[in-house]
Amino acid sequence: MSVTTRSEADVGYVEIDNPPVNAIGQSVRQGLLDAVRWAEKEKLTRVILSGKGRAFAAGADAREFDLPPQEPHLPDVMNAIDESFVPWIAAIDGVALGGGAEIAMACRMRIMSPRSQIGMPEVTLGVIPGAGGTQRLPRLVGLEKALEMISLGKPLGAKAALAAKLVHAVEEDPLEEAYMVNTEELGCIVPTWELPAPQPDAAVIDTARKTAARKTPNQIAPQRAIDVVEAGLSVPFHEALKAERATFLELRKGDQARALRHIFFAERGAKAPESITAEPVALDHVAVVGGGTMGAGIAYALLNAGMRVTLLETDEDGVARATANVEKVIAASLKRKLIDEAGAEDRRERLAAATDYAQASDAMLAIEAAFESMEVKKDVFTKLDAALPKGAILATNTSYLDINEIAATVPDPSRVVGLHFFAPAHIMKLLEIVRGDRTGDVALATGFALAKKLRKVPVLARVCDGFIGNRILARYREAADTVFMDGSTPWEVDAAMEEFGYAMGPYEAQDLSGLDIAHANRRRQDATRDPNRRYIPIADRMVELGKLGKKTGAGWYRYPGGGGKVEDPIVADLAIEESHLAKRDRTDYSAEEIRERLVLAMINEAADILDEGIAQTARDIDLVTVFGYGFPRWRGGLMHHADTIGAKAIVARLEELRKEDPVAWKISPLLERCAASGQPIAEAGPAT
Ligand code: 3HC
Repeated sequence: MSVTTRSEADVGYVEIDNPPVNAIGQSVRQGLLDAVRWAEKEKLTRVILSGKGRAFAAGADAREFDLPPQEPHLPDVMNAIDESFVPWIAAIDGVALGGGAEIAMACRMRIMSPRSQIGMPEVTLGVIPGAGGTQRLPRLVGLEKALEMISLGKPLGAKAALAAKLVHAVEEDPLEEAYMVNTEELGCIVPTWELPAPQPDAAVIDTARKTAARKTPNQIAPQRAIDVVEAGLSVPFHEALKAERATFLELRKGDQARALRHIFFAERGAKAPESITAEPVALDHVAVVGGGTMGAGIAYALLNAGMRVTLLETDEDGVARATANVEKVIAASLKRKLIDEAGAEDRRERLAAATDYAQASDAMLAIEAAFESMEVKKDVFTKLDAALPKGAILATNTSYLDINEIAATVPDPSRVVGLHFFAPAHIMKLLEIVRGDRTGDVALATGFALAKKLRKVPVLARVCDGFIGNRILARYREAADTVFMDGSTPWEVDAAMEEFGYAMGPYEAQDLSGLDIAHANRRRQDATRDPNRRYIPIADRMVELGKLGKKTGAGWYRYPGGGGKVEDPIVADLAIEESHLAKRDRTDYSAEEIRERLVLAMINEAADILDEGIAQTARDIDLVTVFGYGFPRWRGGLMHHADTIGAKAIVARLEELRKEDPVAWKISPLLERCAASGQPIAEAGPAT
């Protein structure tokens, strides 16, 4: 039963009961419509609507969005509630989102608990409100607030909802308060659809458009939502609803909505594989080795999740630096009002920093975030093995080093796992959980349990150079450097990728992280690099010139006075000089050609990663690229995007590129198989 009804005297109680979050699918719609008719037949004086469990209602059931619409349609359900002679009161305890908020707005009154949230996040799924939200919300909260809520998709807490007059009251027990509402007062409330629409206001609409364009560049839904709100201001309510519905149905089958739904469900599906049944170790006390930027970020993320943290450093200076680094993160969180003074103090109290590993002798998990050197890591793991309990899990945050070699330093390598965080570790949502050849299930289960506590998106990877994300990144940068060397400038490459949807291009991003890390990696790879692979020397020249990125005032760009980036002609000349020395002709690549090369290079590498079993599924690669590397979410991640191009078209283009450089553009067998069989890349896996 998705909707239950009962009455006490002349008061009806209707409860949405569709666990876990009361998504509004066909049976809920039918149940609500039946409840309207029931209340009318019973001549009830009011209906109090609530949601069972942790949500009022999380919105339309997005799993139905790939199917043809099924009756009864949600707008008809809303109209039936809004137009009924029995007044409905929404008693909101939990989230009322999308269609959930739309039901509440179709009710005569809304009472909300302080814990609740109400909002219209449809644009985050690539659609617009499709059941009256674009018309009822402006009537309730005015044009400006409605445009903000609908086009940006951010929900309101109880206080803000009350201030916006979206709800009538905020009360601990909304059900009880709804019962107490005076019948006469309730009878005087005008149904929402009968309220006048706000006056059109060109300046407010223009501001909303510009804000949405800035905050969600390239996305269609926010702008279309503003169109629909605007058009609705000057036509009758039911006519405006028809336009809203048509736009909603059109968008929901479009590429962006499909991509955003894919990522929404992929994120929620990112859990430990069912084959891992072991219990994780206790996570109340975690040791973090190394208090640099990464270690401090990890420590702060753990403190945020309520754990006790011991930061281990090599000497007293290191201890002071580590503590100061965590303090910097605490200060930044205070400044952004993410925590208050009491929260800061609580975090400080749960943090200890020491040189003596014995201080962490009861920690069941250690995360090593020390310098990227095999010798350093081996030393740390030997000390951790000696100091921590025998069953403790020992994790390394290495980005590139061989976890199997690290694991070999301890007697029981099943305890060793890779936990690869992304900087800043307390903000970035991705966590690569790297399974070494001998990593045991307890270590893996602990990685997934930690991700859940930290509210991160876990992705399982196997060992290779760079795991999933950095291996794709390396190929992306190589393709960028090749385009740069052969004809473009870093700013042309960056602009092309920003147009694709990245917040910043590969060169600006590298300036932020520092050119020295990739340089150290290249030196590490010198011994094993394929001698037939073309080597682009420009990044090495940059390091020789001391251009290490923003931290040195100059990298691919210059940053005069530590400010914004400025193009640097000396850098552009480096490529001209190097290609002259290499006796290569330069080509004037268009933005489209640049994008194609960089994106195809990533897809081809990712296909190999999947084929080799480094990643388990194409979906995992989508999660890595979106949550760790800024790949545009509205494109659904790298492999989802690849399927929109199609394996056949990708292989045809790679065959052309292979003529230029058969080594760099060696085509992944997985792509060739998909092109030949027509199997979507999303469903592909290693050859059997
Ligand atoms: N449709 C279908 N399933 C949904 C859903 C939805 N709208 N919202 C959540 N779920 C599912 C999740 O996929 C997950 O399923 P699983 O257990 O099988 O993995 C389960 O509900 C629990 O979700 P979360 O893990 O996200 O639980 P949280 O407690 O962390 O968060 C939430 C709950 C805040 C409701 C969050 O799920 C959320 O933001 N949901 C989407 C809300 C939304 O965008 N609503 C608008 C939908 S479009 C719409 O309403 C159109 C209308 O205008 C016509």
